[in-house]
Amino acid sequence: MGIKVDYLILGASGVLGSRLMEVLCRTHSVIGTYNTHAFPDGLHCDLGSEQSVKNLLSNVQPRVLIHVAGMTRTEECESSPDEAYVVNVDGIRHILSYFRGHKLVFFSTDSVFDGESAPYDEDSQPAPVNVYGATKVQAEKSLLQAAPYSLVVRVAGLYGWSKLNREFLSRIRQSSPLVCSTDHFSSYTWMDDICRLLSSLEPMTGVVHLVGPGRYSRAEFTQLACRFLALQGEVRSVKGLEAYTGASRKRGSTLVSLRLRTTLTPAPNALRKLHDRLHEEVNLAGYGGNVNG
Ligand SMILES: NC(=O)c1ccc[n+]([C@@H]2O[C@H](COP(=O)([O-])OP(=O)(O)OC[C@H]3O[C@@H](n4cnc5c(N)ncnc54)[C@H](OP(=O)(O)O)[C@@H]3O)[C@@H](O)[C@H]2O)c1
Repeated sequence: MGIKVDYLILGASGVLGSRLMEVLCRTHSVIGTYNTHAFPDGLHCDLGSEQSVKNLLSNVQPRVLIHVAGMTRTEECESSPDEAYVVNVDGIRHILSYFRGHKLVFFSTDSVFDGESAPYDEDSQPAPVNVYGATKVQAEKSLLQAAPYSLVVRVAGLYGWSKLNREFLSRIRQSSPLVCSTDHFSSYTWMDDICRLLSSLEPMTGVVHLVGPGRYSRAEFTQLACRFLALQGEVRSVKGLEAYTGASRKRGSTLVSLRLRTTLTPAPNALRKLHDRLHEEVNLAGYGGNVNG
């Protein structure tokens, strides 16, 4: 018999996983996994290894499994496509072989679409343009076919409070000017909206889109973030896909939800909250810094 918990978060060392872990731990029993970035009480799991997934799911029996793990960087998937398929697609198969819980919630992406006919709702037909998107489409399909009780949550442009913020902020400071596209529009998801809505998502099955209102070009969103977070990053605006190299990119990808009957937090409100939280952390840490560095 394994340990029974409310939630098992696969990928709890990542951006979204670490935030979910922090919030859910306040009210529920939660175990999280990592692959390469170990953290206290975290369990190791490599989705690409059936044995590793078997070990994990023999030891832990969650009521709900939240899957936010995998290869998520577009360029990395493009340069190592075989590995991307093993981790992102075979990983689902490995989980389904050993998961005995009540619900599986799998996080997916707007990269399942090509961006040619946005906005996309849950009924829109996926058409990925790169390996990352293709692995996610295949993972979604395999999951919903084999386990129709599952839920696929598509999010886009995750932002918000995370233990990894410090790294993110220093990247903004160091990589100035930030080269951003002015006509590559997409949606953005405030991670605390995911945490807040998780329990109401649990009874749902199939595909749901979870994004904030409106659409922003990458340049607009970065300028907004710099303004609200009082960061002094210089944003250099360029046209179209010039800001990217390597893998094919979708031409923007605004998502809308036909299924969620609630308006999520607008970006300026969310960024204001994030600014306050960052300042609070800096003051508590007492190292005299500020978010401007
Ligand atoms: N970030 C975005 O803007 C965005 C946009 C749209 C959709 N999404 C989706 O949202 C979800 C979460 O994204 P994120 O940005 O939080 O991802 P992330 O920060 O890259 O985290 C990925 C997680 O997966 C783990 N992982 C990597 N390879 C693994 C393997 N072989 N076996 C098991 N675990 C492995 C990582 O562990 P280690 O770090 O310990 O190796 C980490 O915990 C993903 O499904 C992503 O596709 C994200």
